[in-house]
Amino acid sequence: MDNEILKALRERRSIRRYRPEQIKDEELQAVLEAGTWAPTAMGRQDPWIVAVQRPDLVARIDALNAAVWGREAPFYGAPTIVLVFGSDPAAWANSVPDGSLVLGNMMLAAHAVGLGSCWINREREMFATPEGKALMAELGLPEGLIGIGALALGYPAAFPPTVKPRKENYYRIIR
Ligand SMILES: Cc1cc2nc3c(=O)[nH]c(=O)nc-3n(C[C@H](O)[C@H](O)[C@H](O)COP(=O)(O)O)c2cc1C
Repeated sequence: MDNEILKALRERRSIRRYRPEQIKDEELQAVLEAGTWAPTAMGRQDPWIVAVQRPDLVARIDALNAAVWGREAPFYGAPTIVLVFGSDPAAWANSVPDGSLVLGNMMLAAHAVGLGSCWINREREMFATPEGKALMAELGLPEGLIGIGALALGYPAAFPPTVKPRKENYYRIIR
């Protein structure tokens, strides 16, 4: 079987080079909206999604991540960063899977509207620092949330030249 969604699932790639111009509002809206339709445990809609386009804040988030990573430009110069937060897993054990599905939906939606995206790690550590907590307050988030993940988002400037084949025996069917 095949259809447009299955094709998009196969063809989405992590993009690590972006054009500098900002994406259109309707494109951002489509990506965020797709995130809100991800399934969440018990339908609780635990995740918090924050899209950041203000250049000074994008630079701050990039720097906070770089400080954890120990390398420069973790967001690859993408003009938009989408952060996903969730409850502390001590309070809601499903917060990380919930937020991860939101991120997955948004990556697929980005591809579907012609944008590039890449999941960027290290939000848990970044937003546990005093600077990270201060930034969360500036973003209007309540206390006690954890960072789950983030997306670099923008127009792709380059596509990965090759794709790893899927590993052997990735799935099995037991009948
Ligand atoms: C949980 C998770 C964390 C990731 N963290 C990063 C990251 O910090 N930086 C990065 O460049 N890519 C990151 N990626 C992207 C993966 O490297 C990428 O999905 C993988 O290499 C497969 O490539 P594809 O997405 O193009 O199929 C992450 C992906 C996942 C699912």
